[in-house]
Parts: sequence; C-alpha cells; structure tokens
Amino acid sequence: MIMDLLSDAEAAAGLVAEAGEVTLVSHIDADGICSEAILSLALERRGIPVHPIFVRQLEPMTMGTVPKDRSFKIFTDLGSGQQNLLAEHGLSEDEVLILDHHVSQPAGKSYREVNALNYGHGKLAASGVAYLVARALDPKNTDLAKLAVIGNVGDMMARTDLGLIGPSREIAEDGVRHGSIEVVKKDLNCFGISTRPVHLCLAYSDDPFVPGVTSNPNGALQFLQRLGVNLKHPSGRWLVWEEIPIEEKRRVISALAQQLLSHGRSPDRLLAEAYLFPGETQRPLRNASEFATVLNACGRWAKPTVGARICRGDRGIAFREAERMLTHHRGMIRDLLQFILEKGVTEISHLQHIHVGDRFPDTIIGIGAGMALSRLNRRKPILIMAEMSDDPLITKVSMRTNEEMVKGGTDLQQAIVDATSEVGGSGGGHRIAAGAYIPRELEERFIHCVNRRLECQNARPGQDHR
Ligand code: C5P
Repeated sequence: MIMDLLSDAEAAAGLVAEAGEVTLVSHIDADGICSEAILSLALERRGIPVHPIFVRQLEPMTMGTVPKDRSFKIFTDLGSGQQNLLAEHGLSEDEVLILDHHVSQPAGKSYREVNALNYGHGKLAASGVAYLVARALDPKNTDLAKLAVIGNVGDMMARTDLGLIGPSREIAEDGVRHGSIEVVKKDLNCFGISTRPVHLCLAYSDDPFVPGVTSNPNGALQFLQRLGVNLKHPSGRWLVWEEIPIEEKRRVISALAQQLLSHGRSPDRLLAEAYLFPGETQRPLRNASEFATVLNACGRWAKPTVGARICRGDRGIAFREAERMLTHHRGMIRDLLQFILEKGVTEISHLQHIHVGDRFPDTIIGIGAGMALSRLNRRKPILIMAEMSDDPLITKVSMRTNEEMVKGGTDLQQAIVDATSEVGGSGGGHRIAAGAYIPRELEERFIHCVNRRLECQNARPGQDHR
C-alpha cells in the first residue's frame, strides 16, 4: 500500500512539474498552512510561480475565490469531500490535483487525488502527502519534513498511537536525517513542554487523568515539590519541562506512574513520542505540537499568511504577530470552554449539543467542543453550533467524539454528510471530528437527523479509522 501511495505521489509530482503556474488552495489550520508552505516552497525552488489562497472551508461562497484561469489548481487539506463544488465551478479533470486526507466524496468527474485514506493509511495528514509530492519533485526537499511533522501532529495524527506511525513516522525520520528534528521516543504525554511551567503543564493535561494532579495546579505543584524537583530558574522564572534535567524527569515520570497505579489507573498513556526542533530559538516553536498551535491561532484568527511566513522562517514581525494571536486564541478558547461547561449541554439520546450564538467565532467552536468533551458525558458525541458572522442564514456546526466511541462504531463524517443531504448545506471531515454549514432555519431538524444516524451507527459497531 505504501508503495502505491509513493508512486501516486510521484505521478502527482510529474503533473506539478509540468505546470506553467499554480493556484494553491489550502485550509486555514496548521495542516493546511504547512501543506501550502511545503508545496509553495517546492514549486518556487523549481521556478514555478504559485498563487496561494487560504479558505476556512470549500463551500459555495469560498469557491468564488478560485480563479477560472489557465493555472493548474492544487487543493491541499480540502477538496476530497467537495468534488461536487469543483465540478459545479467548471473545473476540468486535467487542471486539478487534490492532496487531502478527508473522506473522499467523488461527484461524477475523476479528479486526480492523492489521499492516504485511499491506500489504507488513516494517520497521514495532507501536509504529509504534500511532503511526499515535494520530495518526489526533488530529494533535496527533505528540509520540509519538519513542516509535514508539524501539520500531522497539529491534525492529531500522533494522538491515538502516542506517536506518528506508518508514512508520517517515516517522514519524521527524514527530518532526523536532515538534522532539523529530534525524536524523543518516551517523553511526557503533555502539551506545553517548551512553554508552560512544569506544574501547569501537568495540571492542564488530561490524557491520562492523574488524580491529584490533572486539573489541579496546586496539587501538581505540591506533587513536584514533594519529589524535590527544582522548578525555578536562578532568575526566578518557572522552568519548563524541556529544561528539567533527565534524572529529575525520570523521577517525575515514575512518580506519576505510581500515582496512576495506586488509583487503579493504567500508566499506558503517560508517555508519548515527542518531535522537537532543537534549532529553534523561540520557545513556542520548539516542538511540533506547540508550533502547530501557533499556526492554528493564525489560521483561526483569519491570518493564515502570518503562519505561512513563520513556516518559511520568519521569526521577526510575523512571529511577534502570531504570539499576540496565540495569547488571544488561548484566552478565547478558555472562555469558550468555560461557557460550554457553565451553560451546559442539552443531552438527547445519542448526542449532546449546545449553541453559542454569536459569542464565539465559528472557526474555533470545534476546538472548544473537543476540549469540553472530556469533562462532559464521554459516551455521547458533542455537537456545537455558532452563527456565521458573514452570513446570517447559515449556521456552522462542529462535532467531536473520542476514540472509544469511534471503536464502538461512531462515524461523525458519515452522520454529518447524511444529515446535510437531508437538510441541505455541506459537511465532511473524519470519524472523530467533522463539521458542516447548514441552513439556519433547519438547526433543530439537523440535530435530530444526526442523532438518528448516530443511533443506527451504535447498532452496528465499526472497524477501521479515518
Ligand atoms: O471546523 P471543524 O474544526 O469542526 O472541522 C472538523 C473537521 O471537519 C475538519 O477536518 C474540517 O476540515 C472538516 N469539515 C469539512 N466540511 C465542513 C466543515 C468541516 O470537511 N463544512
């Protein structure tokens, strides 16, 4: 299967190499921004002019930004699920290439597509596919492996298996050989190892849930103090996990394992593979998951090009602007999480839902819903809705579930696609996270359509991931 994927990536590189000029349409999240940067850099290195366009999603309104001209159109991190829109836009089969990892929905025309799902790989995001094409264009492009790792980690490709697997893991190895990535095989499975004070890094992580530590900053601090770990720099600032000496890290990890075991919990998810970038001087860019968060902040706040500049190495004006967006992004997600938990969700038979109105932008509701799920009923997916500021007739829907429900047969992409076919609108995504734009007047009906689909899915447990 991997050979088929690689040979299709090579064929795609052949098409790209012959293009006179390219329009590159990409998604605004970390995976989309990394995909754009990888391909644009690879094309620029070959002297092929590229015109990038970022969209929050391919839908009838954003399709208008895709020019009807002679350029070759590449769609990254979107397109597979919107082939009907490409056809309606009048794009011909020979002017389109889709590099994606969302579930494919063919629509009459046979657009050329490299999508790892079609080769049985559920853990290779679009930036990984873009990288394979870039590497096939020129083997020297292995410096771009780092961006592919960031995009994959940002799209949660490393989460379930506590590290990248299959083709995306091989891409990380390219980065190691190139010298831009350090793989730490067994690091703490925690977000914020390069930026957060250690006790907050522990307290804010809930995979696994450590009694007395998770969601308990004071408890986490006392836990570390009892172990005698030095938590402060001589200057008085808090140290981050990255800076803690290896023997102390080991002591913390084994104490956390003990804590889990003594509460009858498994320490299996305590450690994960981490992807570090030792050459980076700016802390939020020193590991893949935090770098991805910086890019997500840029994209979700309508500045994907700032993220794109950071991917190209800008650590000056663009990075400082991103830092400001990151602060804003974190604050807004914290408020959203609090809003969901305080207002409470409405539980129906097979899902729980909430409408945030116009309080939060539609681009971040899915992130907040995903975070809230671990504190809500973990046996029902969450569906969250928001008004679209630029179109009062449309509602944005985001859904999130967890691995256990996916194993039990839940498939949000299918439920959303089926429900949009009943009420109108467009939707797509993955089993574990999906989204849609629907007519505002049909919100209630949509919720019930999705609920019915989830009920049917629970009756027949599913199999593979996507
Ligand atoms: O927007 P949100 O974060 O909820 O999206 C979750 C997933 O669903 C993403 O992978 C996104 O690309 C996909 N999606 C989609 N079609 C939409 C909205 C979201 O394919 N209309």
